Amino acid sequence: PLVTCLNTSLWHANPDFCVAKSCTPPDIMNGNFNYTTDLVLGTTIIYTCDMGYRLVGQESAQCVLHNNEVFWDNVPYCASIPCSPPPAIENGQSSDGNRDFTFGMAVTYTCNRGFSLIGDPTIHCTVNKDLEGVWSGPPPECKVVRCKNPEVKNGKKLSGFGTEYTYRHTVTFECYPGYLLNGSSTVTCEADNSWNPPVPTCEPGQHPNALCKEPPTVDNGMHNGTKSTDFVPGSVVVYKCKDGFTLTGAASIHCKVDHQHQGVWSKPTPECQSDVPPVGEHPNALCKEPPTVDNGMHNGTKGTDFVHGSVVVYKCKDGFTLTGVGVLRCIARDEYRGVWSKPPPECRGGANMIIVGIFPLLLAMLIMNI
Ligand SMILES: *[C@@H]1O[C@H](CO)[C@@H](O)[C@H](O)[C@H]1NC(C)=O
Ligand SMILES: *[C@@H]1O[C@H](CO)[C@@H](O)[C@H](O)[C@H]1NC(C)=O
Ligand SMILES: *[C@@H]1O[C@H](CO)[C@@H](O)[C@H](O)[C@H]1NC(C)=O
Ligand SMILES: *[C@@H]1O[C@H](CO)[C@@H](O)[C@H](O)[C@H]1NC(C)=O
Ligand SMILES: *[C@@H]1O[C@H](CO)[C@@H](O)[C@H](O)[C@H]1NC(C)=O
Repeated sequence: PLVTCLNTSLWHANPDFCVAKSCTPPDIMNGNFNYTTDLVLGTTIIYTCDMGYRLVGQESAQCVLHNNEVFWDNVPYCASIPCSPPPAIENGQSSDGNRDFTFGMAVTYTCNRGFSLIGDPTIHCTVNKDLEGVWSGPPPECKVVRCKNPEVKNGKKLSGFGTEYTYRHTVTFECYPGYLLNGSSTVTCEADNSWNPPVPTCEPGQHPNALCKEPPTVDNGMHNGTKSTDFVPGSVVVYKCKDGFTLTGAASIHCKVDHQHQGVWSKPTPECQSDVPPVGEHPNALCKEPPTVDNGMHNGTKGTDFVHGSVVVYKCKDGFTLTGVGVLRCIARDEYRGVWSKPPPECRGGANMIIVGIFPLLLAMLIMNI
């Protein structure tokens, strides 16, 4: 309260003789406030609440004076935000359904026996942008889920064997040797009673070793396997015999894969057997004298019958050319009759003779340069 006269002819006084009083920081649970410098008389502060709490009362306060004492004219409080009771579900229940739920609390659902829980089993109390308590998501569902027994043709299950396939049941497959998996090897039973991804298939493989070699040829027969193509597992080749031959064995074979993953033919190659019985089996099957030809002869004796299997050879007279087959064989047509294997040949002269006659003349003309 004193001032001093200094030797500089000035008064010396304490400039901070009277300073404004300050309010003490407000005590607010689960919240805070903000301010610039200090909390002196007249300062306005803004209250905020922690996450999950909302302010009850006015959000701002001022440091005011009353009876020469300073204090905050308003101290609100931060109340925790409540959620409504968790939703009930069919065929299941939530844990602690009767408590009061406030921000941050969680409930976990379970399903009754025989029902599968679809979705997130746990939800928690949270707040929306209007600071209202809401559940973090819809509650899970309790459903009966059954997927069909997943069967893969040309393949097998590796794991996940079962009599019933319920929600989230997982099955893994493998294809048999020579087959390639198309799709996912692992599938899961989904809430809509279907497998996801879809059950795969096993397709005949294009494994280089699983190709079959060209099908074997047969004497007196043929097959429809094109030469120089690859035969993949499953390729079918059909054999057929020439006329007069009968197929014994399997007419149809297919390419398959053996235990060494090699392509092999499914059955032994068939045979084409002659319909003509071996000589002597039908002693009565005789051929008549072989046909005669103009300007030619054969070595079969005139006036005799020929047993089947007999061979006669045709020859033309000098100056005639043989056309056709020169050797005929007696074959048994049935138990009693024999026939000659082919029509007889012909002995042709005519045009051949002219060419033969004219050729030396042409040659002579050429040499003599006529
Ligand atoms: C005034 O007083 C101060 C100390 O109070 C002293 O240092 C100074 O010398 C004085 N000046 C004169 C002119 O007397
Ligand atoms: C206090 O917080 C409020 C709301 O977040 C904001 O608008 C204001 O600027 C802040 N004041 C100071 C001094 O930081
Ligand atoms: C694999 O499966 C898909 C869908 O079923 C089908 O479109 C496709 O042709 C298959 N691929 C082979 C190589 O078989
Ligand atoms: C051979 O014929 C069978 C039956 O007609 C057919 O299924 C098969 O694909 C054919 N094979 C070839 C290589 O053409
Ligand atoms: C005719 O000749 C052929 C060949 O020389 C011979 O194999 C055949 O037995 C002969 N045929 C007859 C009926 O003599």
